[in-house]
Amino acid sequence: MKQNLITPKRSLNKEMEKLLNEQIVMEGKSSASYLSMASWCETKGYNNSSEFLYKHSDEERGHMLKLFKYVNQAGGHAIQPEITEIKHTFKSLREVFEEVLQHEIQVTKSIHDIVDRCLASKDYTTFNFLQWYVVEQREEETMARRALELFDIIGEDGVGLWTIDQEIGKMHNPQDFVPDHR
Ligand code: FEO
Repeated sequence: MKQNLITPKRSLNKEMEKLLNEQIVMEGKSSASYLSMASWCETKGYNNSSEFLYKHSDEERGHMLKLFKYVNQAGGHAIQPEITEIKHTFKSLREVFEEVLQHEIQVTKSIHDIVDRCLASKDYTTFNFLQWYVVEQREEETMARRALELFDIIGEDGVGLWTIDQEIGKMHNPQDFVPDHR
């Protein structure tokens, strides 16, 4: 039987294909986790935090799709991840943003580990592709830290939580937090 008309020439080695597929799982899990957080916030009336997290969930899906395209166009096979163990309820709004920060720190570490492997295996094409994620993670971690700082600066008593939610609603522009944002 005739094969595909155009078979992309493989430039990805098998190890890198596996690492990028693991990153796909991570980005898919980020998207699902933030969607779950957005939903919880909405049920609690934290409407601005909810919108922030819905948008963030979409962005994470975008990060996942960008990896899909790269892996397939480099001759590998991007695999739709099974997403399990998503948390649906939270003790507080603070806990939501603590988990966002912890998650982003793990994602940054994972990206950096893959970048290390790119250099070790002289895969400069993937190294170059991943620089977008290196910059993105710096912004996302900074935003998550800023969100958490609001809880300490404003305090959660009285109208504190309402004010925090309002401030989180204004946090849509990374350039407000990262001076040399692209
Ligand atoms: Fe795409 Fe926030 O990790």
